[in-house]
Amino acid sequence: MGYTPYLERLGPLGEGKEVIASGMTQEVSRAEQAVAAALSGKRVAVVSSGDPGIYGMAGPVLEVMRLLQAEVEVSVVPGVTALSAAAACLGAPLMNDFAVISLSDLLTPWETIRRRLEAVALADFVIVLYNPASRRRRRGLVDCHEILLRHRGADAPVGIVKNALGPGEETSIATVRTMLEHPIDMHTTVIVGNSQTYPWHGRLITPRGYPYPAKPR
Ligand SMILES: C[S@@+](CC[C@H](N)C(=O)[O-])C[C@H]1O[C@@H](n2cnc3c(N)ncnc32)[C@H](O)[C@@H]1O
Repeated sequence: MGYTPYLERLGPLGEGKEVIASGMTQEVSRAEQAVAAALSGKRVAVVSSGDPGIYGMAGPVLEVMRLLQAEVEVSVVPGVTALSAAAACLGAPLMNDFAVISLSDLLTPWETIRRRLEAVALADFVIVLYNPASRRRRRGLVDCHEILLRHRGADAPVGIVKNALGPGEETSIATVRTMLEHPIDMHTTVIVGNSQTYPWHGRLITPRGYPYPAKPR
């Protein structure tokens, strides 16, 4: 069971199986259906993209199980989350403390997101933005840009990765000043450097803090 585009990626793994596809925003009914099927004795796989435990289906499935007091065996299989994939495309932007924020205000009020953005921007975390903008929702990204300008400055480096590690992958290095000129959509992860992050040959590097060269032992 899963969101239609994710099930299409299963290829031969889906062959010979009962495949139940559903659309975006159907997460709760998908979880309910999955738990009901498991309770009826079926072996069910609920498919997420990336890591199911990161803005994925692990939460709704476990919440539905708790509500129904469903006694079925369940395991969460980890995957490569978008921030790991995007960081790999960009080089080494996540070598120091980072914070992850979803800019989608569908399930979290925008005031909460804004407060978190202000806090992590001020605290000089590397910031990873999931769900940065969609065709209908760009206001959050514009507000976020204003917060970054205030706390990080216009020249702070920004990595923008669309379709990381997949077909149509696009990786760009921008700055806070120029980031909004790049196409940013729901298939994009944005990584904003901290005050130490710098670009190098189309990559972003956040120092871990090691002194170079290594001291002779
Ligand atoms: C609802 S979250 C799902 C995250 C997913 N569970 C994971 O662990 O990657 C969707 C967001 O993840 C990011 N994302 C997912 N796949 C991506 C990819 N291949 N390249 C860049 N960003 C991606 C985008 O920011 C997208 O809006």
